Amino acid sequence: MISDIISTGINGVPKIPGDKSISHRSIIIPSISKGICEVNNILKSDDVLHTLNAFKAMGVNIKDDKEKIIIQGEGLNSLKESDSAIYLGNSGTSARLLTGLLSSQKFKSVLTGDESLSTRPMKRIADPLAKMNAKIYTTNGSLPITIDSSILKPAKVNLTIPSAQIKSGLLLAALNIKGESNIIENKITRDHTEILLESFGANIEIQKLDNKKIIKVIGKKELVPSNIDVPNDLSSSAFFIVSALINNNSNIKLKNINNNPTRNGIILALKKMGAKINLFNQRKNNNENICDIEVESSNLHGCELGPEFADLMIDEYPVLAIAASFADSPSVFRGLKELRVKESDRLKLILINLQNCGVNCKSENDDLFIYPSKNYQIKNNLIKTDFDHRIAMAFCVMGTKIGPLNIEDSTSINTSFPNFKDELNNLGGKIS
Ligand code: S3P
Repeated sequence: MISDIISTGINGVPKIPGDKSISHRSIIIPSISKGICEVNNILKSDDVLHTLNAFKAMGVNIKDDKEKIIIQGEGLNSLKESDSAIYLGNSGTSARLLTGLLSSQKFKSVLTGDESLSTRPMKRIADPLAKMNAKIYTTNGSLPITIDSSILKPAKVNLTIPSAQIKSGLLLAALNIKGESNIIENKITRDHTEILLESFGANIEIQKLDNKKIIKVIGKKELVPSNIDVPNDLSSSAFFIVSALINNNSNIKLKNINNNPTRNGIILALKKMGAKINLFNQRKNNNENICDIEVESSNLHGCELGPEFADLMIDEYPVLAIAASFADSPSVFRGLKELRVKESDRLKLILINLQNCGVNCKSENDDLFIYPSKNYQIKNNLIKTDFDHRIAMAFCVMGTKIGPLNIEDSTSINTSFPNFKDELNNLGGKIS
């Protein structure tokens, strides 16, 4: 894919797809509840379809109807052993959440993934689950993994890595354990699992102490579904927000965007940089905060973000780094260790690709430093992505300013945003 310079700005109302994190959970949780659940505006991207197919393979009745799906759940113990290994493509969220859920089922499961997912760390979920007596066998710490059937016991698990995927895997396991489990988060991460479980009547109690959260779950209570409207994805919106900010004569509106306070670090960070972003029509749906967003071209300033931002916007650093490259002063983003174990080593790829675009930047101790300039001389226009959708989309945004950039392996974008290219082009982008 080639992303080239645009001249007249990014303007209009892009159609942002449903939120990826909420879409996964809107398949998993209804599939183990008792009753019928209609899920509207679900994201139909490769990652989410892998979760959907996994539950179909385990016998769940899921009807596909254009932008909605209808799931007929039969209860906590209704899943059936899949005839073959469950293939999860590139989806880390499916892998971690399913490992938790399947560890408390009465059958054996094998999870596999693509080349990239098969290098990502799975012991981070297998080890805390072992405290509940789960029997999980990884391949050198990664997929393929085998989950043997085991009677789990309740446990108190103190999470040492800030990760919504690990927390969610443990919560899903705890739902099917007799007795009280406590999952303790020392840093707050996205809470879509807790929100959905509460609305499905799970026996879950949440206590917050400063930045610490104790989630108490008493398992073996059947969940009762209610219909879900998936809001649009703020992480996907971020590519349009930054495109509009850095290109002159731009003005865009984004509708029905999820503005969950555990996820909205990108808005806070860009506002700190002087971005003209206006959130309006703030409302709630299914207990998730939703809003509409208006963005205009802006003169951005550099800023310093501490590690506390990483938990609120872990997926947005690639595109934030692009915004920082067009600010009028340097930026430093601290505490980005977790970026190294995403769909790619994102910190490494941000640096290599920005440097190839002529941007002066460096990392020290997992902090990222960007020193912007007014003029960039491209050194190598081939953008390396290691099949990472967010690196690919972030550098498409870079291409709108300094292109043409040639984005390697751009089909990875289908994992989260299949219509990205058309939507950006509809607004004035130039991607071929
Ligand atoms: C996700 C959690 C985050 C995020 C990922 C989606 C989720 O991962 O990076 O894209 O849906 O729970 P970690 O839990 O590894 O931080």
